[in-house]
Amino acid sequence: MNETPESTVLDPTAAPATADAVGGVEAADDGPGVLETRSMDVFYGDFKAVADVSMSFTFNEISALIGPSGCGKSTVLRSLNRMNDLIPTARVDGEVRYHGTNIYAGDVDPVEIRRRIGMVFQKPNPFPKSIFDNIAWGAKINGFKGSKSDMKDLVQGALEQAALWDEVKDKLTESGLSLSGGQQQRLCIARAIAVQPDVILMDEPCSALDPIATLRIEELMLELKENYSIIIVTHNMQQAARVSDRTAFFNVELDTTGQRTGHLVEFSPTDVLFTTPKEKATEDYITGRFG
Ligand SMILES: Nc1ncnc2c1ncn2[C@@H]1O[C@H](COP(=O)(O)OP(=O)(O)O)[C@@H](O)[C@H]1O
Ligand SMILES: [Mg+2]
Repeated sequence: MNETPESTVLDPTAAPATADAVGGVEAADDGPGVLETRSMDVFYGDFKAVADVSMSFTFNEISALIGPSGCGKSTVLRSLNRMNDLIPTARVDGEVRYHGTNIYAGDVDPVEIRRRIGMVFQKPNPFPKSIFDNIAWGAKINGFKGSKSDMKDLVQGALEQAALWDEVKDKLTESGLSLSGGQQQRLCIARAIAVQPDVILMDEPCSALDPIATLRIEELMLELKENYSIIIVTHNMQQAARVSDRTAFFNVELDTTGQRTGHLVEFSPTDVLFTTPKEKATEDYITGRFG
């Protein structure tokens, strides 16, 4: 990480990262998507939480993951940037390829992966620091060495991209925790953007927000997809229909060993999934027959 040239990490105006070395591993073959899973299983100890997930995510698209509670949406999402590493029992089999590199290969740096594949959580979690430092701090620990005014530009750029600048520009020294829930969530999005990821994962980012704050985040996602690949977990089918380009439906069934293992039923263009789904299980779910 320390060897990463400053310009690629820190220039707030730079294009998002593209295929190149990831944590010391050269990208092999660039698959069709920026991020791709191949026959991915995820375990917690002996329990197989999700089985055999193969899917591909591309730039400039929002992909939504939907399905009943416990089908493994959060598990899959966390596996996409090695966030599951933080759960001691979690284990991923199969491959997750980011620009063609398996992020679970031995010499890949998970910290670098989490910078390039950012994450926003259900409950907004700003640091107990000033609005300015919420963004500056992440950039600093990722090696930002620019001048004070470069840092100001970085913070402003990230807040502008997250559609928060106008609301906070006069109170950058106030605590991030003083903001409303919706503003806090946009601050967390700004914090993720500031370290220049090219993929942003969001796990039910609006479920703690009121409808107006939710709409603002949805509008923001539609703006951000111009520059990123966004993958969102939502329990809200209307939200998936409103914002996503493609939707993945996961389901959970008892397998032969008696475990409730989740699996991907179908991953289709959103309009197709909600109007003419390929699978009966998808149709049953979207018409409210279960879940
Ligand atoms: N940290 C964990 N340890 C053990 N089991 C877990 C953990 N997190 C999730 N699970 C289990 O994995 C399965 C999938 O959970 P999750 O990914 O949270 O589903 P969803 O987000 O679709 O509701 C569930 O059976 C859940 O109980
Ligand atoms: Mg979840």
